[in-house]
Amino acid sequence: MRNYLRAELICLAVLCLGVAACGAAELGTPADEPTETRALGPGSTKIVVIGKSVHPYWSNIEKGVEAAGRDLGVETIFFSPAKEDVAAQIQTMETYIAQNVTGIAVAPSDPQALEPVMRKAAGAGIFVITLDTPPVEDSVSLVYIGTNNFAAGEIAGKTMARLLAGSGKVGIGRGSDTALNALQRTEGFMAGIAGTDVQVLAPVNDKEDPAIALQLANSIIASHPDLSGAFGIYAYNGPIWATAIKEADAVGRIHLVCFDATSDIINGIKEGVIDATVAQREYDMGYKSVQIINLLAEKGEEAALDEMGAQDGVIDTGVDVITPATLKKYEAMLDRRGIPHDWSTEGWEPPSR
Ligand code: BGC
Repeated sequence: MRNYLRAELICLAVLCLGVAACGAAELGTPADEPTETRALGPGSTKIVVIGKSVHPYWSNIEKGVEAAGRDLGVETIFFSPAKEDVAAQIQTMETYIAQNVTGIAVAPSDPQALEPVMRKAAGAGIFVITLDTPPVEDSVSLVYIGTNNFAAGEIAGKTMARLLAGSGKVGIGRGSDTALNALQRTEGFMAGIAGTDVQVLAPVNDKEDPAIALQLANSIIASHPDLSGAFGIYAYNGPIWATAIKEADAVGRIHLVCFDATSDIINGIKEGVIDATVAQREYDMGYKSVQIINLLAEKGEEAALDEMGAQDGVIDTGVDVITPATLKKYEAMLDRRGIPHDWSTEGWEPPSR
């Protein structure tokens, strides 16, 4: 237990529902095995997207990849290892370098470890980009498509500080100690609670293994009877904390803030065990990854980055903050855009304050 942070609450987070630029969460079903799917288009362009784990969050990315492949008439291949697995990501990169594909979009679980193989791909004339989690500085990745993780973590931290009225003890579960999205969300969270009396326990790493994540959450709750908050950094962390909090009969005593908007998280919000979630726009990450690699191949780097609105090598896909108070608005936004979701707020009303 280290990295306690104490100070005074100086500001309250204002929860708001951001407006998504395009497709947000569509929900999928987790599987036990790694996935690899192909969508065939008519041309010779072949675009590979490599994820980090098998989870509905990644199924939403895969749906974006497939939709872009269909819309643009290009072949897409999506692969995700079962859980955080740097060796599997490197091996998959090697496989597709050997096939001389058009482009590879990768979410590096360990950006340092992935960089050499990304460099090898770029050296072979393959367009390399990153999605969901950024690469190292000076990477060969031509663009990062995803969330501004520091800013999103800061929103989560401010939200937690508001829920705890400025003081309390918070446990953090995350799936990686190397992926930059996890590290930057943690840093952002710390910035969000800065100036408050909120204390943070050292984050625990479960490598996106749900069984380990549950064990860790249970043990934090058991060893810190005064725990008043939990922050789930990855999509699967929040629902696992929700289970642990329910099992400990601590709903309402331990406030829970998480990331993403898969159905288990939305159900947790409806149930009242999850106080807020920072929803990413992962469908867009998948769609835009295919779109930009196709443009890179057709028009070259400058035109492609310009057309896609990249700024300083980043396409920020944005987030939506969902609480019980904004859930119906979020659902209405999805419905307005025709984005399917397998949950509904019908018959549910947010609790009155
Ligand atoms: C993260 C991904 C992670 C996913 C599933 C998301 O919040 O952006 O990197 O793989 O959660 O846990």
